[in-house]
Amino acid sequence: MKPSSLGDTMATLVRMAKPRDAEAARRVGDEAFATVRSVYHPNSAAYANLSAVAPTLERLVAEDDGQVVGTVRFGVSGDCLRVIGLAVLPQFQRRGVARALVHELARVAKAKGCRALALYTVTQTGNVPVFERLGFSLISRGRTNTPTALPASH
Ligand SMILES: CC(C)(COP(=O)(O)OP(=O)(O)OC[C@H]1O[C@@H](n2cnc3c(N)ncnc32)[C@H](O)[C@@H]1OP(=O)(O)O)[C@@H](O)C(=O)NCCC(=O)NCCS
Repeated sequence: MKPSSLGDTMATLVRMAKPRDAEAARRVGDEAFATVRSVYHPNSAAYANLSAVAPTLERLVAEDDGQVVGTVRFGVSGDCLRVIGLAVLPQFQRRGVARALVHELARVAKAKGCRALALYTVTQTGNVPVFERLGFSLISRGRTNTPTALPASH
């Protein structure tokens, strides 16, 4: 896949992850989600669901000067591209990295014939307005304290 350029984050590019990115992507996820861990506690059912779909998921990474600073997994689910685990290293947040990843996800979704991006987030993380800024719309609310609490579509 051709990397997409990131406008004002000029040293950053988004590309499909390679096997050698696995450790860096895991670290990005760990550090990013540590910032919301006090309000985000996936239950065992959520982990089981994720494990079940994990082998079918693909991954994007965002690089800044050769360092992996953001990542997201995705997979086709019905007519949507399901977005999972969008994460940006804390020190690289608020610079448009997530926006660049979502931009690339939208391009991938279109290429795969999907009509929308879809994700779940937890209200208490404060991410609902962030995803709204990223172009998502809230379509329903569910139970809190699970990663399936708040679907949104792009
Ligand atoms: C959510 C997250 C991925 C956003 O990444 P990011 O690279 O900082 O986001 P961007 O810089 O692309 O910002 C996207 C938009 O959201 C806004 N935004 C980002 N963080 C925000 C915050 N904490 N408060 C308010 N607005 C915020 C930005 O201003 C921007 O909108 P604008 O371009 O209209 O100004 C990042 O904060 C993160 O990794 N959080 C921890 C993990 C997590 O909760 N992931 C979501 C799982 S569902």
